[in-house]
Amino acid sequence: MSTDTDTPVAQPDSFVFTDENRQLADTIIARYPEGRQASAVLPLLDLAQRQHDGWLPRVAMDHVADVLGMAPIRVYEVATFYTMFNLRPVGKHHVQVCTNLPCWLRGSDKVMHACKKTLGIEVGETTADGQFTLSEVECLGACVNAPMIQVNDDYYEDLDADSTAKVLTDLREGRQPKKGSQTGRTSSEPAGGLTSLMTVGGEDA
Ligand code: FES
Repeated sequence: MSTDTDTPVAQPDSFVFTDENRQLADTIIARYPEGRQASAVLPLLDLAQRQHDGWLPRVAMDHVADVLGMAPIRVYEVATFYTMFNLRPVGKHHVQVCTNLPCWLRGSDKVMHACKKTLGIEVGETTADGQFTLSEVECLGACVNAPMIQVNDDYYEDLDADSTAKVLTDLREGRQPKKGSQTGRTSSEPAGGLTSLMTVGGEDA
């Protein structure tokens, strides 16, 4: 990820896609026109990261470069630009706190503080039991339900300190928290209830 530090990370000696993932990679590559296979670099890096416990060692990036016929440096450029790619090991639950402007205006400072307090770690750290890694990221595209966090593939939105702590505690204790808004609204409908489109086909919505 782009916030990576210079601290060396133990790297594995080799990486290749499993047979299943190689088939999936070939299916993804076939979606792109002949000569444009490099466009598959993002989904293939994501596939490699999922295969390798949530992070991308250098040999995995080299393998993706090899599969796509790209210079390795071009794959490194992509992997180091996007925060969705982790260049060092992460915990079982990767907690990414959005602190960009809309989330900040809606209380991301309190969300971040709740994460640090509940997990007992700072940004960029992993809990001793390997369960949680805490990261700070820019906009995750859910500003309408700010503030929010992403944990692995799931979004938790409309957070405050208490609901943030509850989400993390549930995860720590093996419970699946409710995904999406934590205040009960559906998707990104107005927090105070509908103000327009009050009827559907002449009937009350
Ligand atoms: S600013 Fe936080 S999701 Fe967009």
